[in-house]
Amino acid sequence: MATEPAECGKLAEYLEVLGNALDRFLTFQHPDAMHEPARWRAVLERRLPISGIGIDAVMEEMTRYLVPNGSAIPNPGSTAFITTGATTIGALATLAGAVASPQRLTLNAFNFLEEQSLEWLAELFRLPPAMKGLYSSGGSVANLAALGAARQQAFEARGIDPARQGVPGPARLYASNASHHSIRRAAAVLGLGREAVVTIATDTQGRMIPAALERQLQEDRVRGLVPVAVVANAGTTTTGAIDPLHTIGTLAHRYDTWFHVDGAYGLPGILDPTVRHLYAGLELADSVIVDPHKWLGAPVGIGATFVRDRALLQRAFTQEAADYLEQSCTQETALHSMDSLGIPYSDFGVELSAPPRGAVVWALLREIGADGLRARICRHNAMARQVAEWANAHPNLEVLQWPTLSICCFRYVVVGCPDLDALNTRIHRALVRHGRNIPSTAQVNGQLAIRPCFIGARTGPDQAQALVDEVLALGAQLTQGAEPDTDTNTDTNNSGSMPYFTR
Ligand SMILES: Cc1ncc(COP(=O)(O)O)c(C=O)c1O
Repeated sequence: MATEPAECGKLAEYLEVLGNALDRFLTFQHPDAMHEPARWRAVLERRLPISGIGIDAVMEEMTRYLVPNGSAIPNPGSTAFITTGATTIGALATLAGAVASPQRLTLNAFNFLEEQSLEWLAELFRLPPAMKGLYSSGGSVANLAALGAARQQAFEARGIDPARQGVPGPARLYASNASHHSIRRAAAVLGLGREAVVTIATDTQGRMIPAALERQLQEDRVRGLVPVAVVANAGTTTTGAIDPLHTIGTLAHRYDTWFHVDGAYGLPGILDPTVRHLYAGLELADSVIVDPHKWLGAPVGIGATFVRDRALLQRAFTQEAADYLEQSCTQETALHSMDSLGIPYSDFGVELSAPPRGAVVWALLREIGADGLRARICRHNAMARQVAEWANAHPNLEVLQWPTLSICCFRYVVVGCPDLDALNTRIHRALVRHGRNIPSTAQVNGQLAIRPCFIGARTGPDQAQALVDEVLALGAQLTQGAEPDTDTNTDTNNSGSMPYFTR
């Protein structure tokens, strides 16, 4: 019966055990978690433990029942989500922080990297020089922080402090119909209300139509509504489209409105010289977000917000001084890590306790450098274009949206098929059940597409080829009346070793 945690000095031993289990997991030679869920649920589903079983027994359950029944998302053939499996260095840096620096508050080497890595990201992604950042748990919270600063500016300009006094009247946020739904939630949380988000139409490529935005801004000005922010996308979630940033940013400023760019997924695309020109206008942004837990391969839980004026974030989100902390930490000359809380990030956003995420971004970028990340982005963008070219050239495939970044929306077609959406839904279900290539589906201009988003650090050209081959094989089987085997994969679904790209 264990009543206290294991003593110090055992971490290395247990890390080896866990590391071996995780390395085995990453070969994806195991059945899917839902193949025989009863096997692991029989062990894991329990009432609250009153007596502990001790670390060795927990490690046994973890390595035998938990890890092998993890998610399909880190599989290199898994292209449905925009979050991915963590790279090895990202996972290790997260663990290092959890043990050695459990808070981003106070002065230490981990927390030193918070600001430095934010500066690296700003430089890497060519953000306006004055921009300063803040880490949070991901794109949704990063958007919330940025729009909180926008709200602060819009109402302060009208003599109101919305953080202190609340929001007095109707306000407007402008976002395209391809924007991420976290924008609407941010509007709700910020007290503007979901209905404050006005949806601006997009063209057939999924890009905001500037003329539609201008009409709306003009109309709302006449009605006396407060324009809080225009939200543009640098890489939409569904198709990767990039809005015309320069035109939209210019319009926003002409109407005295904050210009926010959601680059949660697509901002790193600026590293690819073939699409860099699409980011012209980023220099007009008042705020920008990017998610290191997407294309950078960080473990989930890292988003970044950048704003021109971090004091606005502080006025929007400060929780004001805490009696038990502030005075115990403020020393003029810091001689001990506990002499200062450091940069007050907890006043710039909604989290007080937070891990030192900057150390993870530092580790990722130290490992592969800007050149390594650029190579990854270019590889994934080229894969999406390659799928589009194959689809374009094949009589049974059709491109529904030409890729801008690393997403390609295409579908299987066959002459005389009465319902291509239904056929492609069945192809998609069979893909998922087989577990080798797991894209998502998406609605593109009213048609159902198969949508791979190539983003995982371990994902390379073989996955693009394998996906297209499997779609063609399944399409042929289904249109010839054969039922594909739709059992979840039972084992060894990926033969051979998995490629590991460090970049
Ligand atoms: C464009 C965009 N913005 C915001 C988000 C929300 O990010 P998160 O899931 O990290 O909260 C996503 C998620 O995919 C996204 O694609």
